[in-house]
Amino acid sequence: MTTRKHKMRESEVSRNTEKTPPRISVVGTGYLGATHAAAMAEMGFEVIGVDSDPAKVAALSIGDVPFFEPGLPELLRKHVASGRLRFTTDLADATALSDVHFICVGTPQQRGSNAANTSYVEAATLDVARNLTHDGLIVGKSTVPVGTGARLRDLIRDHVPEGVRAEVVWNPEFLREGKAVADTLAPDRIVIGGTTKLSEAILREVYALPIAAGAPVIVCDLPTAELVKVSANAFLATKISFINAIAEVCVAAGADVSVLADALGHDSRIGRQFLNAGLGFGGGCLPKDIRALMHRATELGAFSAASLMQQVDEINMSQRQRVVDLAIEACGGSVLNKRIGILGAAFKPDTDDVRDSPALNVAAALHLRGAQSIVFDPEANDTARRSFPTLSYADSVTDAVTGADVILVLTEWPEFVNADAAELAELSNRAIVIDARNCLNTSAWTAAGWDVRALGRSSRAVSTDVYERESLLSVA
Ligand SMILES: NC(=O)c1ccc[n+]([C@@H]2O[C@H](COP(=O)([O-])OP(=O)(O)OC[C@H]3O[C@@H](n4cnc5c(N)ncnc54)[C@H](O)[C@@H]3O)[C@@H](O)[C@H]2O)c1
Repeated sequence: MTTRKHKMRESEVSRNTEKTPPRISVVGTGYLGATHAAAMAEMGFEVIGVDSDPAKVAALSIGDVPFFEPGLPELLRKHVASGRLRFTTDLADATALSDVHFICVGTPQQRGSNAANTSYVEAATLDVARNLTHDGLIVGKSTVPVGTGARLRDLIRDHVPEGVRAEVVWNPEFLREGKAVADTLAPDRIVIGGTTKLSEAILREVYALPIAAGAPVIVCDLPTAELVKVSANAFLATKISFINAIAEVCVAAGADVSVLADALGHDSRIGRQFLNAGLGFGGGCLPKDIRALMHRATELGAFSAASLMQQVDEINMSQRQRVVDLAIEACGGSVLNKRIGILGAAFKPDTDDVRDSPALNVAAALHLRGAQSIVFDPEANDTARRSFPTLSYADSVTDAVTGADVILVLTEWPEFVNADAAELAELSNRAIVIDARNCLNTSAWTAAGWDVRALGRSSRAVSTDVYERESLLSVA
């Protein structure tokens, strides 16, 4: 095989930046890619989104977002209609018509390992490299283990067509599902790693609008850029597991973790966000990202980081068991044939994403113990049904609560927080609620007749459960 130098030459790249704006392809149009593609169109670029899933491409092409993300359908439709944004399954076509290629494919946890599966990123990058018809900048946005970018550079080296130059850089994404559009249009920072002077200039042109609006740009090497994203998620996960560990102490000591978290949050060095004790984190990012870091840190011999992440993961997963235990206790020692109203399936509000959702994990665990778990989520019923078809699904909060022996609030949707507690108490079989997100107004629910039990708030928990009290009363 011939080996060639593929560093982009200054003269050729500046041709691009001086004349027409770079045309953009976005490979992988899931939660990240679809949002990124629409946002790039909004910033004024010609964008082609590529996905290997024809159903996704068909939906996006007519302006339908195949998942729930507030504000995205409007943005997508606007730019599909304007002709600035289109979608295809034909990667060769998209590559030929673009100059900057964002890689936004998934990096799920590998089966049977904590490591990230980078095979989609490798395949997508290699496909772009092979199909280049002119110089291209390949920009990784997927969250990857440190070292992936360098490996990709080696991987594509001998596959870029003769006479064409390609560069691989990393530009990790920090968007939050539920706020993805605003986060992409106005990022709180832009990290670009492994760039030459010229590819940095191209990315500064791509992000000219947010940069002009004040978004700080951090230019760094490739491994630092990869690690920034993983470390951000590791820190957020650690914060959640920290407060859940403290919640355990609160229960043992008779303290209230929510009040404690408010008091901690006033310290500007700490901050109140990500200090809500409860069922813990889930979703398509945090769990797999901390496990991937655990795996990669171990490979690199950085054992402290690996053991810290192990603890964070253990604390987080044990919260799910705590909620299951609370449900069993609330049902008098067994959930067999008990009707359990499950409020929430998404891993957090404002999304229909149920990947590694703690809510569904709890619902399924109770179902396996013989409970009738009736799940309701305002947006995630369909995605949940696809992942857990054996669970039962309700069409409304009232359907889920009617006849329930206990209800569990597992996702803090406003619809649950603002529900009419008195009306629901009438509908339930026994008015016991487990507030696994510490999101309910305990006084209002208690006044409406509910027995409210919450994680980490011993002052709210009842010492004798309703079943026991009833049997004591009947003996008396
Ligand atoms: N979802 C988030 O909030 C978020 C935020 C920041 C970073 N990330 C990272 O972004 C990456 C993507 O996450 P996501 O949530 O969008 O995943 P996703 O599963 O929703 O989307 C990935 C898409 O890539 C497509 N795909 C896979 N291989 C392909 C290929 N060779 N060519 C074309 N399309 C291909 C899939 O069909 C799918 O539509 C992950 O690394 C994730 O960690 C996600």
